[in-house]
Amino acid sequence: MKSTISYTSDYLLVEGGKPLKGKIDISGAKNAALPILMATLLTEDLCVVNNVPKLLDVKTTLELLENFGASVKQEGNKVVVSASKVNNLYAPESLVRKMRASILSAGPLLARFGKAIVAMPGGCSIGVRGIDQHLKVFEKAGSRIKVKHGYIHIEVDKINPVEYTFDVITVTGTENALMFLSRCPKRSILRNIALEPEVMDLVDVLKKMGVEIEIYDRTAIIIGNPDIKGFEHTVIPDRIEAGTFMVAGFITNGDVTLEGVRLEHLGSVIEKLKDAGAIIEILGKDELRVRSSGRINSLSVSTAEYPGFPTDMQAQFMAMLSLCSGVSEITENIFENRFQHVGELQRMGANITVKGKTAIVKGVDKLYGAEVFSTDLRASASLVLAGLVAEGTTIIRDIYHLDRGYERMEEKLSKLGAMIKREPPTGHF
Ligand code: EPU
Repeated sequence: MKSTISYTSDYLLVEGGKPLKGKIDISGAKNAALPILMATLLTEDLCVVNNVPKLLDVKTTLELLENFGASVKQEGNKVVVSASKVNNLYAPESLVRKMRASILSAGPLLARFGKAIVAMPGGCSIGVRGIDQHLKVFEKAGSRIKVKHGYIHIEVDKINPVEYTFDVITVTGTENALMFLSRCPKRSILRNIALEPEVMDLVDVLKKMGVEIEIYDRTAIIIGNPDIKGFEHTVIPDRIEAGTFMVAGFITNGDVTLEGVRLEHLGSVIEKLKDAGAIIEILGKDELRVRSSGRINSLSVSTAEYPGFPTDMQAQFMAMLSLCSGVSEITENIFENRFQHVGELQRMGANITVKGKTAIVKGVDKLYGAEVFSTDLRASASLVLAGLVAEGTTIIRDIYHLDRGYERMEEKLSKLGAMIKREPPTGHF
């Protein structure tokens, strides 16, 4: 039956049942590229960032840098930024709404100019996602903070060194704090920091800029540098993109080789995939091959901060475990509302019940293509995975979510033999 709904975002058409075979390259990590691009605001010098993925969130970040007055040149996956002419310290609601990570501009702007006005990031589909920990570090160092008309106004005359233990482990909170303290020449100590590889990539960049940072356990000791300089850096590979393609190779009974990965970042994902029955061979220092053993074992998965199992792989594992033999349990410990893909997977025939922060997944023999809706970035990836193994056609709506974080996903999947097509938002179904 024809519906009267009209759509504004592209959609994907996926024909399930093709085993994926071949080789693909893994792109640069979105969540490393964003803070590193923001770090260019710390200096007047030219900064060169290589291996920047072409994504919607990167586009928004570059727009934000230009909005501040920086000049930005993007050639393929290389981005050159000069922030010597920054003349505006205001991050508008229109850009912050597109990308919560815009809050990462506050740390570097305050460090260099003593002032930042950033639209207050609102709620988000995966949870409340407060920024209180970011603000606590700013405040501890002597900043004055006011929220007026939906904007956070932050000012600081002189950044005092800080000793602070984060109440919760926060990735962007740690990154913002490190950038904020990077021009303060006295010794600061941050405890209970996030150790995600993306945070460590930013640490490498700050060190190149002349900041002294020492990390042990979950503690960072920072001695900033008022004469911070430019840098050239190559962004680390995206461990979540790699994990997503590993699941794709496994569940489609495929044989997929990933090139350009960092094996040491994939520990918990590789372990869990092996437990689920994937055959994973390490082919070299940055290359691995994934195949199926013919069945998907049930698993118990709990998300945790790195080096634990990443929340950003939870939805993709749920799609995989929908087809497991037996009953799996997935517990989401990082975000309070990151099960929105459950309803969509159910529409494809998955048997999942949610009890608090745990989803019980009873394996079914088959998933069936359906029209489904993306609710966030990783949820949309889980629907693509489900579509690749489902019987019949899956239509995935609202894929701007997918475009925020996966570079040319349908192109890479097609290269591996998937039947997947992007269509403009013209369809009325
Ligand atoms: N939290 C607070 N107060 C704060 C900061 C965080 O209560 O001031 C809470 C959050 O509400 C959440 C938990 O702490 O419950 C962890 O949040 P975190 O701050 O670590 O998340 P984030 O920095 O906003 C980054 C990634 C996310 C990823 C999480 C967890 C970027 C740009 N985003 O978000 O990536 O899920 O860390 O690893 O780095 C994605 O790529 O799909 C994505 C959502």
